[in-house]
Amino acid sequence: MPIRLHHHGRVLADVVSYLRCPICAGDLAAEGSALRCASGHAFDVARQGYANLLTGKVHLGTADTPEMVAARAAFLGAGHFAPLAELVAERAAALDPGEGCVLDAGAGTGHYLAAVLDRLPGRPGLALDISKHALRRAARAHPRIGALAWDVWRPLPVRTGAVAVLIDVFAPRSGTEFHRVLRPDGALIVVTPAAHHLGELVERLGLLSVDERKADRVAGSVGERFAPAGTWSLELPLSLTRADAASLVAMGPSARHTDPEVLRARIAALAEPVRVTAAFEVRAFDVRPET
Ligand SMILES: C[S@@+](CC[C@H](N)C(=O)[O-])C[C@H]1O[C@@H](n2cnc3c(N)ncnc32)[C@H](O)[C@@H]1O
Ligand SMILES: [Zn+2]
Repeated sequence: MPIRLHHHGRVLADVVSYLRCPICAGDLAAEGSALRCASGHAFDVARQGYANLLTGKVHLGTADTPEMVAARAAFLGAGHFAPLAELVAERAAALDPGEGCVLDAGAGTGHYLAAVLDRLPGRPGLALDISKHALRRAARAHPRIGALAWDVWRPLPVRTGAVAVLIDVFAPRSGTEFHRVLRPDGALIVVTPAAHHLGELVERLGLLSVDERKADRVAGSVGERFAPAGTWSLELPLSLTRADAASLVAMGPSARHTDPEVLRARIAALAEPVRVTAAFEVRAFDVRPET
């Protein structure tokens, strides 16, 4: 069967061997502007380069909006979180078993996945996200990224044992499925905000604060299936313009929960430079054998 995914989704032809049909779990092949399985289930590749594997009723409640994605792209593009991308890429390279793809669950704009792929020459990457606005960016974030519209709460459209390194950066986690798709020698890397993440802005702007029990919940959410393989704390003192601060707020969860007009007014009243501390926890896990 000829593969004709030249302009859009050419990369999907390179990652399709890591995927499985989300309906029947059969192999998928790239065909025309679609991915198909032998049973005839077909999934469109959008002009913007991502494949839409979702069927049925899709709950878009937690999908990043166009405004959130634009703010995230602007903020990350300015390099403010570059040391985090660097740390994630370094940990991924250190834990990489040498074969298999890299999966980013809730990849957003593909910023962190691109950094990991830069460290792992020739290796394919899968960016999963439920937001089409994010996927448009992710599909272009790196020449080796195949971007897929998917809901991380559903069984993943990824073959068992296909993934070398799975990264999850401020995104939903599914321990059972992460365990299934990872190789036995693979690694999971989870990034969460530390309790004092953006503390100065939380106070001054009335943002949502980070749940203090997040650390417990990370371990809990990946469960017995993973063994802790290291924790790294990263603190970044940022010195921002008001425009940067506005992007930082707009890309986060507070954007959904706070009146935009009120936020705008509070940000306009901040003195420049806006000094704020970003604080992250990076946790690595080894795959535990199934007992
Ligand atoms: C806080 S953003 C983080 C994005 C990216 N990892 C980053 O750090 O730049 C959370 C991302 O998860 C996506 N998301 C939310 N719920 C999801 C779900 N159920 N399945 C897949 N992606 C989801 C959102 O659309 C958004 O892009
Ligand atoms: Zn099928």
